[in-house]
Amino acid sequence: MKINHIGVAVANLEEALNFYTNGIGLGVTGRETVDEQKATVAFIPCGEARFELLESTSPDGPIGKFLAKNGGRGGLHHVAIEVDDIEEALASLKARGMKLIDETPRIGAGGSKIAFVHPKTTDGVLIELCQEA
Ligand code: CO
Repeated sequence: MKINHIGVAVANLEEALNFYTNGIGLGVTGRETVDEQKATVAFIPCGEARFELLESTSPDGPIGKFLAKNGGRGGLHHVAIEVDDIEEALASLKARGMKLIDETPRIGAGGSKIAFVHPKTTDGVLIELCQEA
């Protein structure tokens, strides 16, 4: 297992990218709109992990709601742990009585399978489990 990415909610993707690219010299590998997450996503590799910048495409999506709660500002949104078998990881958590947001995986950026663990289980940190496509 490893940290796959760190999800950062941003108010404006172009402005946010300026720091990572021009500011500290990282590159952008992909940009796509993930309808299921109501967000446009850009990935910025940094070592073995990546930053995932998320700009909302709809105020009723998870990033839109996060920004609204945060006074319109972006912020650290989630940390994603890469697992080999996401169904098995979810079953294991469930069997131990841990709370999940997603009991079955959803499709995330790049066709990966993703599922969020409830912050009640993780001391307030939103943890995403992901299995690369
Ligand atoms: Co993510």
